[in-house]
Amino acid sequence: MAEPGPPLATLLVADDDPAVRQSLERTLTREGYAVVLAPDGQAALERLQEGGVDLVLSDLKMPGLTGLELLREAKAVAPDVDVILLTAFGTVEEAVRAMKDGATDFLTKPFQRAQLTKVVRQALERRDLIAQNRALQKRLDDLLRQGNMIGTSPAFRRLMTLVQQVADSSATVLVQGESGTGKELVARAIHDRSSRRNGPFIAVNCAALPETLLESELFGYEKGAFTGAASRKEGRFELADGGTLFLDEIADLSPVTQPKILRVLQEGEFERVGATKTIRVDVRIVTATNQDLATLVREKRFREDLFYRLNVITIQVPPLREKHEDVPVLAQHFLRVYAAKNNRQLDGFSDEALGCLEAYSWPGNVRELENVVERAVVLARGGRVDAADLPDAVRERPVMLTRGGPQGPGAGAVPEGVFQIRVGTPLAEVEARLLEETLRLNHGNKTLTAKMLGIDPKTVFRKLKQGEAEDGTP
Ligand SMILES: Nc1ncnc2c1ncn2[C@@H]1O[C@H](COP(=O)(O)OP(=O)(O)OP(=O)(O)O)[C@@H](O)[C@H]1O
Ligand SMILES: [Mg+2]
Repeated sequence: MAEPGPPLATLLVADDDPAVRQSLERTLTREGYAVVLAPDGQAALERLQEGGVDLVLSDLKMPGLTGLELLREAKAVAPDVDVILLTAFGTVEEAVRAMKDGATDFLTKPFQRAQLTKVVRQALERRDLIAQNRALQKRLDDLLRQGNMIGTSPAFRRLMTLVQQVADSSATVLVQGESGTGKELVARAIHDRSSRRNGPFIAVNCAALPETLLESELFGYEKGAFTGAASRKEGRFELADGGTLFLDEIADLSPVTQPKILRVLQEGEFERVGATKTIRVDVRIVTATNQDLATLVREKRFREDLFYRLNVITIQVPPLREKHEDVPVLAQHFLRVYAAKNNRQLDGFSDEALGCLEAYSWPGNVRELENVVERAVVLARGGRVDAADLPDAVRERPVMLTRGGPQGPGAGAVPEGVFQIRVGTPLAEVEARLLEETLRLNHGNKTLTAKMLGIDPKTVFRKLKQGEAEDGTP
């Protein structure tokens, strides 16, 4: 016989009947497990608290703590340890209730040795799988994550490469992009990857404050500089010394404040409001806007000299519709975040729900996706998010009806996620297109497609066959 190796796992057996304890100990030890015995629920719980137990086998009816009570307490002190309940014939109903309370399995006494070892093996395998899954998920998270930014698409990788490249210079960066694309995250990512990362990151929203308040916020003020200035206050430029100052919504900077910012950029100096002393700071400026600054400059609403100072490097954050591969990855990420926040156990998205998320055009970009997933997590009734938990706008794929032929008016740019049908298109063709698009949405799943279109799956098969015959493909 081979040398006995280290025990496969440590099992805690709780039963008030010494004969049962002994028999279980004998069987399980022979299988290579380390076995610990407890004569009642209380003793079992105390042993469990000491740690090192991989699985609990507990009798349902015991004096003191019953098996059910032990199960509940066990889940509180050691949530990762599974519990298998041993029940006498006739208490199966109670065992079923126990399963709902989180028991992994149950065995009805008397049971065969083979039954016992099988149930134990399965429970331990399940535990290993869950642990493996967690480790994989963590590795995947680390792989997908660049700081706190998530994505795998080529557009996302190009963005992060650029962020990395500009981080180490001290050059001023202008971050442009639609609302909700992640401009603020990009600004933080630049700071976190720069040599200033241990210095402060100070953000100011230029649109949130009226002109005079914004100036005292940015430059600070002296005691008595204006009514209400009871004491001296440092401005954000001073607070950001040695770090990064993020000026958000820079397009909203008033014509009066613009030259003052320009001066700090050019000379690196300024005065507090109401002061004569000049202050010098070492601050890296990152700005962001969802407006097109170049156009504002042309319209004389933004100073050209300031624009060139801010625009030494421009980072364009792509809209979500241009990095579609990131949708499922981001959706999964937000699902985990909000499931944890709301104490919900959710496995992910149904195929149909994922299809809808992928097909939608996300005009509100990542922020909209985040909000949609948060809402779905709250609404989801099953173990995962279903299409029914998504807002109508996301579930429906809009059709754009256009007049004129493919070359005629209205045949210009068709937004992503919208498909176009010319008025006057033969119905058979409309039907074929609709079928094709719905199939694509459902990753080729014909049953889901039929369900969505409200027709019989057989009809889907037949229509597809017809289409193939007309294509001349077998
Ligand atoms: N790549 C990403 N990974 C993870 N979360 C992201 C990503 N991009 C954006 N987000 C999240 O989306 C939301 C919107 O991002 P952010 O506030 O940076 O957008 P914004 O471009 O500054 O929008 P606005 O122009 O409206 O101010 C935030 O909650 C942010 O955490
Ligand atoms: Mg923002």
